[in-house]
This record gives sequence, structure tokens and C-alpha cells, in this order.
Amino acid sequence: MKTTIAVIRGDGIGPEIMDATLRVLDALGVGLDYEFVDAGLAAYEKTGELLPQATLDAIARHRIALKSPLTTPVGEGFSSINVELRRRFDLYANVRPAISFPNTRSRFPENVDLITVRENTEGAYAGEGQQVSEDGATATLVQKITRRGSERIVRYAFDLAVRTGRRKVTIVHKANILKSTSGLFLKVAREVAAQYPSIQCNELIVDNCCMQLVMKPEQFDVIVTTNLFGDIISDLCAGLVGGLGLAPGANIGTDAAIFEAVHGSAPDIAGKGIANPCALLLGAAQMLDHLQRPELATRLRAAIRATLAAADRLTPDLGGQGTTTSFAEAIASRLG
Ligand code: NAI
Ligand code: MG
Repeated sequence: MKTTIAVIRGDGIGPEIMDATLRVLDALGVGLDYEFVDAGLAAYEKTGELLPQATLDAIARHRIALKSPLTTPVGEGFSSINVELRRRFDLYANVRPAISFPNTRSRFPENVDLITVRENTEGAYAGEGQQVSEDGATATLVQKITRRGSERIVRYAFDLAVRTGRRKVTIVHKANILKSTSGLFLKVAREVAAQYPSIQCNELIVDNCCMQLVMKPEQFDVIVTTNLFGDIISDLCAGLVGGLGLAPGANIGTDAAIFEAVHGSAPDIAGKGIANPCALLLGAAQMLDHLQRPELATRLRAAIRATLAAADRLTPDLGGQGTTTSFAEAIASRLG
């Protein structure tokens, strides 16, 4: 039976990069069926809702979504549709690879091949207990970390390392200062690590980790950390290897998974046909791995790499003069 996935074309450059991505997937012969559903501004304009029930139902039904960036209209319902999607489907693992590619104007055109595994549901971003005192002088927020939340994310990271032949997991924390929350995370992480004797494990305090990443990123393999640290570290890592146009992310839960680009809807270049489709394409490669089609994922990544190496029809963010469509065609022609 054919697998159907939910596809959200998104806002701004979203539809442009999604169309390009689906063309490449078709050329790859993935044989997926797509159910197109709306979220974000596109959904709001059609239905008055940012996250229509039909969209939630489609994701729940197919359990896999490929999603372009969404614009959250300022001043509407919730603060971020993405955060809401992660909450609704309990997408606890945010998996963000950062891998060196040639011709990307990156400081590290080689040697970086790491994955940040970020806890996606707890800590500061859960928004619990957000309060500003009446006189506006004091603000508070509860940061809740649980044993269950810590255990499942660290286990995910170690399982990922085992599954993909990676050798080392770095636990990133701030337990020296945040003794209760980061302390619990570290304690549980050590317990889980002990169950994976074949994987090397080390611990780094988050500020030192940031310095090490910038100085010697090649020492990292898998990084596992809590929500806020993971958000910041994963963008830092995207910056190491050439920026937003090449940074994909997967949001993975037990019952559903959503694959995307890390970047936003880029209103400054929307409609011009010059957005780089690589981040979403690399998100699609993560999806193919998740669908247990690793051979297709590998071919897709190799075609992207070969196109970058040949500097063939690259988009302006990479210094080229290509369009979203011509860049995607260049990639499709190298699928082998
Ligand atoms: P952004 O990521 O959309 O853009 C930042 C800069 O990077 C812009 O100059 C943009 O042109 C460039 N850029 C981003 N993606 C690119 C691509 N594929 N190719 C070439 N250049 C690219 O961030 P910004 O401007 O802060 O946010 C714009 C909107 O996107 C906001 O409404 C924000 O809420 C939303 N957003 C949505 C996300 C999502 O749905 N996952 C994530 C981040 C932001
Ligand atoms: Mg972020």
C-alpha cells in the first residue's frame, strides 16, 4: 500500500520551496501520496483559523507531515504555530543535523558532521507559570524538567547514535548552576548513557560547549540537551556549516513526526523564485530515513552535495544566480 503524508505548503517562500522539493522527490521515485492541508497565514485567510482541525486530523491520520515554514500573524491566538504543533502531537525530539557542504561560504566547508537532539516539550519553552507582576517590575517563569522527558530524549539520542553508526554522544547541561532542573537532566542522562556501553559519552557545560563548537566542531557527533539550550546550539551549528538555507529539522514523537526546514517564511524574498530549497529537501531526506527508505535519503543527500560541489545553478544566498526551480532541477539531474 502506498504511504500518504500530510503536506503543508506554508507561507512566504513556503509554496516555492515545497513545489521544488516535491518535484525532486518525484524524480527520486519515492512513490508517496500527498494530502495537502493548510496551516499558518494561508489557513487563516481561508478558514479564519491558524491551525484548522482538518490539518490536525490529517497529521494524526498519516502520522507524517512535510511542512514548509509558516507565518504566525502578530497578535493572533497562540505565540507560535510550530510550538503548538509540537505540543499537540507530543513531538518530543527535535533532530537537527549540521553537516559541512562545499561552496556554502561556510567557515567549515568540511569536517562538521553532527546532530543536535533537542528536547522539544519541556523547560522554559513550555511556558508554564509565565507571569509579570502588576507593577511590571518582576517577571517569572517555571522551568519544569521531568525524569520521563529527560529519559526519553537521551534514549532517543543514544538510539539514533546506534542506528546511524555514530560513535559519541555529548550531554550538554548547566547543572553546576541550575542544580534542580539541569541537575535532574544530567543525572538521568548519565543513567541512560550507562546502558549504551558501545557509545562514547562525554558531558559539557553549555557555555563551554558553545566555545568548543566554534573552535573545534569536528570533535562533536551527537549532542543531546534540553529545549532552550538545544534551540540556541542548533542555530549555532547551522551557522557553522553555511546557514539557514541548509538547515533541516525533524520533530519526532511516538505517534507522529513533522519534517521541515529550520528557517522561516522569508517574506523579504517571497514570490521572487530565488529561495534555496535545500533545507526543506534535507528535511525530506530525514523523512525518508524515518520512513525506513535510507537508500533514497542517501541518494537525495548525495545529489544535493554534488550540485553544491559543482556550484550548478545555486541560488543567490549561496552566491549563485539560479532560481529555486533551476537549482532543484540541477539536484534532480544528479539523483543517479
Ligand atoms: P527567516 O528564516 O524567514 O529569514 C531570515 C533571513 O534568511 C531572511 O533574510 C531570509 O530571506 C533568509 N532566508 C531564510 N530562508 C531562506 C532560504 N530558504 N533561501 C534563501 N534565503 C533564506 O526568519 P524571519 O525573517 O525572522 O521570520 C519570517 C517569518 O517566518 C516570521 O513570520 C516567523 O514567525 C516565521 N518563522 C517560521 C518558522 C517555521 O515555520 N518553522 C521558523 C522561523 C520563523
Ligand atoms: Mg530556533
